[in-house]
Amino acid sequence: MEKTVTEAINYRRSVRKYKDTPIDAGKVKQCLKNASLAPTSSNLQLWEFYHVTDKEVLKNLSVACMNQSAAKTAQQLVVVVAKKSLWKKRAKANIDFLNEAFDKPNLEERMVKRKKMALSYYQKLIPFLYTDFLGILGFLKYLIFQIVGLFRPVYRQTRKSDMRTVAHKSAGLAAQNFMISMAAIGYDTCPMEGSDTLRVKKILNLSNNSEITMVIGCGLRDEAGIYGPRFRVPFEDVYFKI
Ligand SMILES: Cc1cc2nc3c(=O)[nH]c(=O)nc-3n(C[C@H](O)[C@H](O)[C@H](O)COP(=O)(O)O)c2cc1C
Repeated sequence: MEKTVTEAINYRRSVRKYKDTPIDAGKVKQCLKNASLAPTSSNLQLWEFYHVTDKEVLKNLSVACMNQSAAKTAQQLVVVVAKKSLWKKRAKANIDFLNEAFDKPNLEERMVKRKKMALSYYQKLIPFLYTDFLGILGFLKYLIFQIVGLFRPVYRQTRKSDMRTVAHKSAGLAAQNFMISMAAIGYDTCPMEGSDTLRVKKILNLSNNSEITMVIGCGLRDEAGIYGPRFRVPFEDVYFKI
């Protein structure tokens, strides 16, 4: 039986050493399906998930992960990729979805309005935000928004670095969905940003515009793979009730 959300969150630890026991790739894939249900900025889903089970590729990737034991002993690896360049394709997918979802006879007035607004979002606002040229357009938009922002609330995250953050933010949420889903079925994980991302990209044949959000080791925990009790700063230091 699957753990509850709270049980899974408590069970999840970053496991740095896994047992030799294989894990079921089908179950890992199901957890990746859960990952893809994570919320995502503008529902653009600028992510890809590479599920690695091939022994040779696993070996090469663990070297690219600096030979960390969380990678070296992993039965499988998942590489979460943020890919901002997918925005046009994803905007089109949203438009197609909206056209189909709202393709009903005698659509209510309020639904007609909703469809129009949603379509305009993907046909106008998203291209405006995502179109850039070497970071120059993004920076110009940023400057303009800083001025407009003196007079009214505006969206300010338009620079190239902002847009990268936007893509990684959503990919990080997907990664967390994945790790919690794995924990729910008693599988263990370790998120890793300690990797040579250029080498990881080469091993997976990824294009230049793909960015590695994290590599996740997967397997069954060897108790020695939990390096110590869980440490968090006191909750009062991070919780502010306003
Ligand atoms: C984005 C990210 C990158 C991380 N990179 C590594 C890593 O390269 N190697 C590693 O052993 N742990 C890595 N960790 C795991 C953290 O060290 C770990 O989450 C933290 O110590 C808290 O422990 P817990 O996950 O067991 O609660 C990473 C975690 C996150 C969220």
